[in-house]
Amino acid sequence: MAATLIDGKAFAAKVRGQVAEHVARLKEENGITPGLAVVLVGEDPASQVYVRSKGKQTVEVGMNSVEHKLDADTSEADLLAVVEQLNNDPSIHGILVQLPLPKHMNEDLVINSIAPEKDVDGFHISNVGLLGTGQKSMVPCTPLGCLMMLRDHHGSLSGMDAVVIGRSNIVGKPMAQLLLGDSCTVTIAHSRTKDLPDVVRRADIVVAAVGRPEMVPGDWIKEGATVIDVGINRIERDGKTKLVGDVDFASAAERAGAITPVPGGVGPMTIACLLANTVTACCRANGLKEPEGLTA
Ligand code: GUN
Repeated sequence: MAATLIDGKAFAAKVRGQVAEHVARLKEENGITPGLAVVLVGEDPASQVYVRSKGKQTVEVGMNSVEHKLDADTSEADLLAVVEQLNNDPSIHGILVQLPLPKHMNEDLVINSIAPEKDVDGFHISNVGLLGTGQKSMVPCTPLGCLMMLRDHHGSLSGMDAVVIGRSNIVGKPMAQLLLGDSCTVTIAHSRTKDLPDVVRRADIVVAAVGRPEMVPGDWIKEGATVIDVGINRIERDGKTKLVGDVDFASAAERAGAITPVPGGVGPMTIACLLANTVTACCRANGLKEPEGLTA
């Protein structure tokens, strides 16, 4: 393997350490403990795993963790009432409503009912608009984690050609905005993009976020490019269940300059950035200086 491995697991541990230091300082100097509330509706197994992990890591960095678990048949009005109560609770600085929501709920309506300054997912329409216009916002966690790893590896990203494969609101679009904010020349590619291999071959930075196992082969990767693989896909191979990314790791690692593995790349950064966003939200709510290096 020629490429440098970008170790997201180690990087996430470093971010959590910085968050924990900042939390300790907030408690000691200001008597404030940041609080993160997570709302889970229903019993989706993957969501339950995420929520458990979020709660555990929140406590580990010294913050307060509140969980609201609602039945799958909870009415939208009852969910909105829980969000409203959290919006008005001064001990809560971050609110996350776990997605997907049951089909009878309007996800956009629910997300936009969260107070924008507590929207630690960065999904509220106000935060989307602020990010798009280069203003201070809450930034979606997975793209923020990718940006942190890219900045750490390269220093400045200015002038680099970046391709984001995937146009989701959660990853692709905010990732493109962040790269543009760091003065990359950005292409957003998707399922209708013509000649995707050639588009990817021009890129110094490739961010793959489509959710299709190993769809980017190594021969699409420019020699020396940095590859950030956001995909986490479960596949059956040789009779075993295996996690793979959107990039064919083995062949891409032969050509890339640096690459994130799956698992252990982008994945652990998402929750670390959620914790970082919660500290940021807590500092902003209290008019205090924000932690350096933990925001975009
Ligand atoms: N479901 C899967 N990932 C996420 C996430 O980052 N935020 C929320 N709210 N729901 C999710």
